[in-house]
Amino acid sequence: MKTIRMALIGYGNVGQAFARMLKRREDYLKDTFDAKAIITGICTRSRGAVIRENGIDTEALTDDMFDKDKDAFAVIESGEYDVMMELTPINIMTGQPATDHVRRALDLGKHVITANKGPVAWHYRELRDLAKEKGVLFLHEATVMDGTPVYNLAKETLMGCEITEVSGIFNATTNFILTEMEKGVSFEDAVEEGRRQGFVEADASMDIDGWDAAAKLTALMNVLMDVQITPLEIDRTGIGEITREDIENAGTQGKRIKLLCRGRVEGGRPVGVVRPTLVDEGSLPTTMQGTASYVTIDTDLMGATTIIEEPFEPEIDHTAYGVLSDLLRILTETKE
Ligand SMILES: NC(=O)c1ccc[n+]([C@@H]2O[C@H](COP(=O)([O-])OP(=O)(O)OC[C@H]3O[C@@H](n4cnc5c(N)ncnc54)[C@H](OP(=O)(O)O)[C@@H]3O)[C@@H](O)[C@H]2O)c1
Repeated sequence: MKTIRMALIGYGNVGQAFARMLKRREDYLKDTFDAKAIITGICTRSRGAVIRENGIDTEALTDDMFDKDKDAFAVIESGEYDVMMELTPINIMTGQPATDHVRRALDLGKHVITANKGPVAWHYRELRDLAKEKGVLFLHEATVMDGTPVYNLAKETLMGCEITEVSGIFNATTNFILTEMEKGVSFEDAVEEGRRQGFVEADASMDIDGWDAAAKLTALMNVLMDVQITPLEIDRTGIGEITREDIENAGTQGKRIKLLCRGRVEGGRPVGVVRPTLVDEGSLPTTMQGTASYVTIDTDLMGATTIIEEPFEPEIDHTAYGVLSDLLRILTETKE
């Protein structure tokens, strides 16, 4: 039986949910790929790292197993893995240190899966080319709409099409806030409710100011349209200035306000926009309630395809599935 070894750089919500999901699919991996997937490295910022070449029993993981003196690079340099998973928090302004983690692992000839969109939003072309040169895979399904198969859909089922535009609602938090405000809830109370439900961060500004949506738009454009654009180049407006009055006024015109994203190439130049937009009641964006989101992919040969991510419990499993689906792709593509 084949053994595939993984190093998890970052072991927070996503890393732990992935480890649990992996256990649920142990038999599936054995039956489908004659493979066993083991986690040989785990790294956190505050606790340091654990490296066990024979595998870590994540259910029996305790703080005293971590070596405080070891950081992400110690795990990456150890080479005791086949797939590095980049699961640290995003720095939307730089894409670091995640990009350096990814670059080093690829350079060492390891496959890389990232749920962190920083490397894809900032350095996709360089990392894609490095992976190709080294004969490994650089996968990133969880970076946009969690595990919803956006990149896989485009790669596997829209073959031969040129993607001319990507658009949609990419940020669940802002869609939730706008939906709550339509019910008469204040902006502040909507944010608080999102925090209570666990999907709004303590600092919600990256969502509210449109940065998260801009990073996702950038990631989609870089991968699907083969451009080189960064989040700083997106024409971006968040929802921080939207008032209850704006929402009521929209309603009286038979419209609603949605934070829409759109990216295309105009005159050879990539153009990306994130902006609160008035849309007709009953149109596709208005059917996205709460934390739902969608991406529409426009193509030259077969028009538009839309994929919707519906709310799901537990929400974190969506993301964990994105990581697992990338692992399954590696197993598929390296099957002997
Ligand atoms: N949560 C979601 O629903 C979701 C959805 C899609 C994509 N993502 C992306 O997935 C990634 C992980 O998200 P998450 O929710 O799991 O984050 P999280 O719960 O904050 O966990 C992050 C982990 O990374 C560790 N870490 C931070 N800086 C590090 C560094 N320099 N070196 C090594 N480890 C470091 C943290 O260590 P400590 O525990 O010591 O702080 C923690 O273990 C993020 O990039 C996020 O944007 C998340």
